[in-house]
Amino acid sequence: MTVSIRSALPNDLPRIPDLEREAAQRFRGTTQGALADAAPSMTEPFLRRALQADRLLVAEEGETLCGFALLDQCGTDGWLQEFDVPLAFGGQGIGRALLAFSCAWARGRGCRRLTLTTFRNVPFNAPFYTRFGFAELVADETLPAHLRNALAQEEAAGLGDRCAMALDL
Ligand SMILES: CC(C)(COP(=O)(O)OP(=O)(O)OC[C@H]1O[C@@H](n2cnc3c(N)ncnc32)[C@H](O)[C@@H]1OP(=O)(O)O)[C@@H](O)C(=O)NCCC(=O)NCCS
Repeated sequence: MTVSIRSALPNDLPRIPDLEREAAQRFRGTTQGALADAAPSMTEPFLRRALQADRLLVAEEGETLCGFALLDQCGTDGWLQEFDVPLAFGGQGIGRALLAFSCAWARGRGCRRLTLTTFRNVPFNAPFYTRFGFAELVADETLPAHLRNALAQEEAAGLGDRCAMALDL
């Protein structure tokens, strides 16, 4: 079955929290196992606003949604805020396809980089992004505000070992 990536439509919204919850199950057995029970994190109004601004991409296999990416733009940075593929659809390249489409989304808006924050030592996080071409950014005053704020909020929420990364587009 072929997977296609497209902008989300209103009918897709009810499925997004389930996709996030199912993808989070991957954290069981990692250093961040508690996250498996923390999802979903995004409210319906938040997702609806993202959809209306064309910031929500979904992956679809036939008529089944099998992943999504939530993006934003901060100046000349694209920002991958959330990115999820349920375990049942994992390892088929859907994540890579969503990431490639996210790069195209950011390029199309004139962004020069795609940025994100992630866990350094979770195998399907920073190591995966590194293989895709992302590099870790130094977390000092040169870090753009959206990433500095995200890292600060994540630290306040008790998440450790987070880092910011960027891919030049
Ligand atoms: C990150 C994620 C979206 C990747 O989805 P996916 O569809 O399984 O990814 P792909 O099939 O395209 O594989 C991408 C890479 O991840 C690697 N990978 C996937 N699951 C992995 C695991 N459990 N352990 C180690 N590597 C893993 C694959 O080997 C592949 O690497 P390669 O392409 O460099 O060989 C998915 O793991 C996920 O939803 N994780 C939970 C939520 C999350 O961590 N989101 C990112 C937040 S920053």
